[in-house]
Amino acid sequence: MAKGKLAYSCTACGNESNSWLGRCPICDAWGSLVEIEKHSGAQTLKDKSSVQSYKFSEILGSAEAPDRILFGMPETERVLGGGVVKGSTTLLVGEPGIGKSTLLLHLADGLSDRNDGRIYYIAGEESPDQIGIRGKRIGIEGKRLEIFPETDVDSILFELNQHEQSIVIIDSIQTLVDPGLDSVAGSVAQIRACASKLITWSKISQVPLFMSGHLTKEGSVAGPKVLEHSVDVVLQLDGNASGSFRSLHGLKNRFGSTNEMAVLEMRENGLVEVLDPSSDLISERPEGVPGSVVVPIIEGTRPLLVEVQSLVSQTGNSFEPRRTANGIELNRLVLISAVLSKQSSVDIIGKDIIVNVVGGIRVSEPAADLGIALAIASSALDKEFPASTAAVGELGLTGEIRKSIYIERRITELARLGFQRVIVPKSFVPSDSLNEIDINLIKVNNIEDAIKKF
Ligand code: TYD
Ligand code: MG
Repeated sequence: MAKGKLAYSCTACGNESNSWLGRCPICDAWGSLVEIEKHSGAQTLKDKSSVQSYKFSEILGSAEAPDRILFGMPETERVLGGGVVKGSTTLLVGEPGIGKSTLLLHLADGLSDRNDGRIYYIAGEESPDQIGIRGKRIGIEGKRLEIFPETDVDSILFELNQHEQSIVIIDSIQTLVDPGLDSVAGSVAQIRACASKLITWSKISQVPLFMSGHLTKEGSVAGPKVLEHSVDVVLQLDGNASGSFRSLHGLKNRFGSTNEMAVLEMRENGLVEVLDPSSDLISERPEGVPGSVVVPIIEGTRPLLVEVQSLVSQTGNSFEPRRTANGIELNRLVLISAVLSKQSSVDIIGKDIIVNVVGGIRVSEPAADLGIALAIASSALDKEFPASTAAVGELGLTGEIRKSIYIERRITELARLGFQRVIVPKSFVPSDSLNEIDINLIKVNNIEDAIKKF
């Protein structure tokens, strides 16, 4: 083997190293480095550049918002920044079975209704028959949609160059192979090589490219995340596969904000956009039982009401009571439990604590701390948290409740859906316009104060 021919790449984070290491120094994953072929730097050296430079003032003068292609799913379009940009490359990641193929088929159908060109769907995972059955189930016509069951990236590019397309969808990037490489489909080297060829083709032809990629259950990301740097947009479809709600987030967007989120619901007839997610997400709240608190979170620019549930029970393992978190970080739960245990009168010593955010929504905002703590307290005390009350605020280590951003927007959303009381940090001062809204603010200093007041 010629010197410098081999390198090693971490399957978890994509970091490259010249020698094999047992543990990736970047992401700390063990045994994740695999052999890849190293590109020779010399190939890119040119004796003269064919690229010109541009005066920034001239670029500014001619800069216009990019052309967007719409596909009739306004919520998804919003996450993309207002539709699909010509020549853009998008990676859609999510766990297997979460609904990526279904979403891409809806997208293909929407585009096919609104555009003249052909929509090309490269099917590496399912046969055309299977896709047909799914299409029938979700009621799509796909007039301009063509399914191409091929996994060899060179054959795909050959085919793409034969005709004009208006969009190309790859489902999934892990199934494609570059015949020039020895490694198996799905390996980091294959994913990189195939994606790189397709992305170059997309940039030259200005045809938008969508690629799906599976993430592993543990969230320790296998292949597709190595592409994050190469694509323009990364979307993640999230949720609890056994529940019906899915959230679609932008993780990266060169043409828009990454804060936007859409809520979709998996039904019998495919994925349907949820237009009033707050109302849907809290619609099945149990009444008169302890352990449930509604929390107003902010997703991008929009407030969203979510129900946080908790169950506190005597542990079967007295050495180490369990903490189980669905929809929030486990570390966050451990921290909130520790604050409750130390700074309030709620007795959770020797208790297992489970927290779940209903609907498969993930909550990462500290503004949800108070609501989570109150859900735990409500269950531990076996005392119902009133259904018409909500809570917002950040929890400090000494048990103090701190102000969060956008409290007014959150309260307005609560009022819209008929909430009568909301527990807020004492330091929060409502503006005049908020004073006109018919909702009672219950101001609290610390967690014990909040527990006493519900
Ligand atoms: P799929 O799009 O195949 O997921 P992915 O491509 O991310 O692996 O979705 C698979 C699941 O979605 C499957 O378990 C069944 C469910 N589903 C519905 O509930 N309704 C539908 O209309 C469709 C097409 C799928
Ligand atoms: Mg799929």
